[in-house]
Amino acid sequence: MNKPKVLVTRNIFPEWINYISDNSELDLWEDELPPPRDILLKKVKGIDGILCLLTDKIDSELMDIAGPQLKVISQIAVGFDNININEATKRKIPVGNTPDVLTSTTADATWSLLMAAARRITESERFVHQGKWKTWHPLHFLGQDIYKSTFGIIGMGRIGYEVAKRAIGFDCKIIYYDVNRRKDLEEKLPLEYVDLKTLLINSDIISLHTVLNDDTYHLIGEKELNLMKDNSILVNVSRGPVVDSKALYNALLDKKIWAAALDVTDPEPIPNDDPLLKLDNCLIVPHIASASYKTRYEMSKISAENLINGVNKKSLITCVNPEVNY
Ligand code: GLV
Repeated sequence: MNKPKVLVTRNIFPEWINYISDNSELDLWEDELPPPRDILLKKVKGIDGILCLLTDKIDSELMDIAGPQLKVISQIAVGFDNININEATKRKIPVGNTPDVLTSTTADATWSLLMAAARRITESERFVHQGKWKTWHPLHFLGQDIYKSTFGIIGMGRIGYEVAKRAIGFDCKIIYYDVNRRKDLEEKLPLEYVDLKTLLINSDIISLHTVLNDDTYHLIGEKELNLMKDNSILVNVSRGPVVDSKALYNALLDKKIWAAALDVTDPEPIPNDDPLLKLDNCLIVPHIASASYKTRYEMSKISAENLINGVNKKSLITCVNPEVNY
């Protein structure tokens, strides 16, 4: 019997590449960089399944070119704003993602970014490496305290909740905004539900954990930044376009807010000449929040299993559009 044809658009852990190749006819894109659009469109013709990344645009054009035999789209990420889910559902193609396994790792990363920004860790580390450290000084590299601060979480999903759990250990007052009030979580942790404006006005720290969609695009823009405290720190580990980068640059330059720590930017990667890169109060890392060995291994496993399940018309372990799961 012919094996199902699959395309994997980047290297994942070798064990899971082997698992895929044992169970399919595998076309693996091994470059560091994503396949260019024209090559991706050529490669999807006639495939039964694709394992893709958030850097691959999976839209109706791609699904049309792939053909009606396409049985599964397996994304190695929890977010899926690069995939047209409605189009996939219309065609009865289940879309897999990798939630849960990355929740705690991403929450840890949120805290790493926050603490580094609050205490100016990357900035002062650069200072030492540049040979500028001459003495201890009472007024050098003063930062913001996290303990006992008001911690505002936008998006109280799995990751937002894990971030909140960690804030308890720092004696923070936690307020949150979400389109859905989470009374179930309020029973487990001291979380206070507030509207967005109240959160912006009162928080010392604002951490973003929303999905990206039409409602959250530029959720944080000039108006919102103007409401924030001048000592506040904005952390974004969600998606770059949730924040209006130009407005953020102006707010950081004019010291309307104190600092930002970004795991995600708009666009990605951030261009070398982006003005945000010139600011000492803007810490930027290259979308690494889930990048621990253990978590990326689990993400490789789930996405590989979703792919192989899907091409065999078996139920995906984690599915974004369960109404068409097998
Ligand atoms: C990473 O950003 C993810 O969505 O998993």
